Amino acid sequence: MSRKKLLIVAHDPSPNTRKLAEAVLRGARHEDIENVEAEHIRPLEAGPDDVHAADGIILGTTENLGYMSGALKDFFDRTYYQVIEEKQGLPCAVYIRAALDGTGTHRAIESILTGLSWKLVQDIRIFHGEWQESFVDEAEELGMYMAAGLDAGIL
Ligand SMILES: Cc1cc2nc3c(=O)[nH]c(=O)nc-3n(C[C@H](O)[C@H](O)[C@H](O)COP(=O)(O)O)c2cc1C
Repeated sequence: MSRKKLLIVAHDPSPNTRKLAEAVLRGARHEDIENVEAEHIRPLEAGPDDVHAADGIILGTTENLGYMSGALKDFFDRTYYQVIEEKQGLPCAVYIRAALDGTGTHRAIESILTGLSWKLVQDIRIFHGEWQESFVDEAEELGMYMAAGLDAGIL
């Protein structure tokens, strides 16, 4: 059986957000998950070919100035119309690191995902407020959940 691909497109400009991206990848590469290949590509380096090849996607961003990072927005700008026909129903999960708020980013990403017809398989997670190490565990779970779901063929 060919391995499924889980693409993680996560912006990680700070030590905390690097911890989040690494945790998502670690969870997605859990040893019990056999048939899923997970890869983290930063949004400025990711493009339509990566999305075409993916069976599932996890998006990660900071909230900057009330919106998603410019890097993730640039990814959508370069990718949206290239994948809109073929990737409808793509299983998707999202996390946002927001020091204060996160709602503007939540709203914007939800609207883009509706346009793309990607399938959110869990609620968008906002890692909100002062940094907590428990965010890392939750990010790991998020990656594991997606990868396990793809592995089991239920997403
Ligand atoms: C220019 C700038 C704008 C920001 N705007 C927001 C914002 O609108 N809402 C928010 O919740 N956090 C905002 N932040 C905080 C970032 O989301 C936060 O620093 C980032 O997610 C990295 O998290 P960390 O500081 O825990 O590493 C902003 C940070 C910067 C540098």
